[in-house]
Amino acid sequence: MKILFILGFTAVSLLVISPAKSKSLGAMNTYFPINHSVVKIKAFEILKTKCNICHAKKNRKKIFTLENMDIFAAKVEEQVFIKKRMPRGKKNKLTDKEYQQLSTWIKSLKQ
Ligand code: HEC
Repeated sequence: MKILFILGFTAVSLLVISPAKSKSLGAMNTYFPINHSVVKIKAFEILKTKCNICHAKKNRKKIFTLENMDIFAAKVEEQVFIKKRMPRGKKNKLTDKEYQQLSTWIKSLKQ
């Protein structure tokens, strides 16, 4: 049951996030091992809604995408968890769950 949910979630997320690649879901799963991609997609949702919303206007060099986010992981960790400079603005605060999900993604890259 759980695995079906995970597979469904991944498939739907990939369809929503990258329509261009949705034709080759099989290939995507080889590219991003399935558990990794769920963790990553959850993190991307946060980067998109809580970070890109402002970076798109104020820091155009760091607009996070599924392709570049792993490269920025160390920077994200530094700004969000160590220096606590990001996200800026009262409206963009992260929930405990979102902190947890970002942290899970960053840790997944260190394994
Ligand atoms: C309301 C605006 C705003 C929001 C929201 C925001 N940022 Fe930023 N961010 C900035 C601006 C402006 C800069 C560039 C100037 C600076 O570093 O202060 C920046 C810079 C950065 C940098 C580069 C710092 C460096 O080392 O040069 C990182 C990494 C970053 N943001 C991550 C994030 C992450 C992750 C989030 C979401 C959790 C986020 N930001 C949300 C405005 C924002």
